[in-house]
Amino acid sequence: MVVALPSPYRPGYNQRPVVLAGREDVLAAADEALAVAVLEGRTPPALLVVGPRGVGKTVLLGEIADRAGERYSWPRLHVEIAPGSSLTADLVAGARDLVARFDQQPPSGRFRATSVVVGASLTGVHGEVTLTRSDAASPGGGGEIRVALASVVDAAADRDSGFVLTIDEMQLASRDELGQLAAVLQRATEAAWPVVVVGAGLPGMRDPGRTVSYFERAEWHEIGSLDPRQTRLALEGPAEAAGRPFEDDALDLLADRSGGYPYAVQLYGHHAWRASAGSDRIDLGAARRAATTAQKQLEVGLYANRWVQASGGERNYLVHLARLLAASQSVRGAEVAAALGVTARQVSTVRDRLLKKGTISAEGEYLHFAVPGMSEYVLRQSPDNSPDHELGGKAHRARRQQDDVGL
Ligand SMILES: Nc1ncnc2c1ncn2[C@@H]1O[C@H](COP(=O)(O)OP(=O)(O)OP(=O)(O)O)[C@@H](O)[C@H]1O
Ligand SMILES: [Mg+2]
Repeated sequence: MVVALPSPYRPGYNQRPVVLAGREDVLAAADEALAVAVLEGRTPPALLVVGPRGVGKTVLLGEIADRAGERYSWPRLHVEIAPGSSLTADLVAGARDLVARFDQQPPSGRFRATSVVVGASLTGVHGEVTLTRSDAASPGGGGEIRVALASVVDAAADRDSGFVLTIDEMQLASRDELGQLAAVLQRATEAAWPVVVVGAGLPGMRDPGRTVSYFERAEWHEIGSLDPRQTRLALEGPAEAAGRPFEDDALDLLADRSGGYPYAVQLYGHHAWRASAGSDRIDLGAARRAATTAQKQLEVGLYANRWVQASGGERNYLVHLARLLAASQSVRGAEVAAALGVTARQVSTVRDRLLKKGTISAEGEYLHFAVPGMSEYVLRQSPDNSPDHELGGKAHRARRQQDDVGL
């Protein structure tokens, strides 16, 4: 009997991959921000990671927090905003937990003053670092958030430490709460609190109407699909480390089919691992079987979800984009508008909504589907090549009224 070895791939949300490919720029920026905070005692600008669903924002937040923990023993305060949840309440609860964790360590007793100078105790570092206590009683906006974060700063400073604040799904934060958090973090920067802030969210979080000035001044990083070299690394690394390497043509096939979309890379890798159970290599036959299974799984899950959640106008836009993409590799927004028989301006709200949801991505003026393979799926939703037929009916008419173009 063949005992199936566990798959070294992690297809799923918030699942840290065995090989985290690419992302060098964000990680270098995070390393620098951590060094600024820990070694120089300054509060760096926030790092904000923006990208469509499934490209690895959450795992990046985790990786940055892990680096802070491993290198500097700085713990993490993590908040994931959910629809209808309160950022403030979650921050307050998270801060309370973190203070309790700090309280389990004995205070170093060296940080009683408002601002003290200490020698950094890190290997190879002999600088002087100023750690600042929070001075929570001082005036400033942000009420509950300020008090909560200040209590963490005090507990951290008492122990010659700091913390990383990670905020996920930032596009769901209310403007009010985001404004309050920004006010607190602005003051934190001025007061050199020992905190590194890293946020992540869908492209909608960049909406000018929502972005407050503290976040405008943050360091923004856009992430998307992996390039071909990174895709191969992400696919071949886990299999090789687990003792069942890819044959070249099998790797070529799956690198191509996954399109470098990180979730798909994990899914294709996972099915290739399964399809090759009992062999000592992953060959082309296994890769082909895996590609079919993984594609089906993407269709019933990811593509279908996006399609169902799209309004009538959005679907019509997607169908026209998909048709143009079937004929040409690069399609401009203006061409989609022309195919719809409207001006680019008339259709801009629909296009922007699809961009914010991360269903489509833009590279300059060119548009494509954020998830590879979705274009073909969208075409199949319109088998008679008539979007009006596919999109007709009551639900479509009801949705139409919300759209800026009467499609
Ligand atoms: N750099 C990477 N290399 C290889 N695989 C990755 C990489 N980043 C993420 N993944 C994989 O992609 C999938 C999605 O990751 P993650 O949940 O972090 O995405 P996300 O951008 O946070 O998605 P969402 O917006 O839906 O929350 C996971 O299966 C993860 O293992
Ligand atoms: Mg996520």
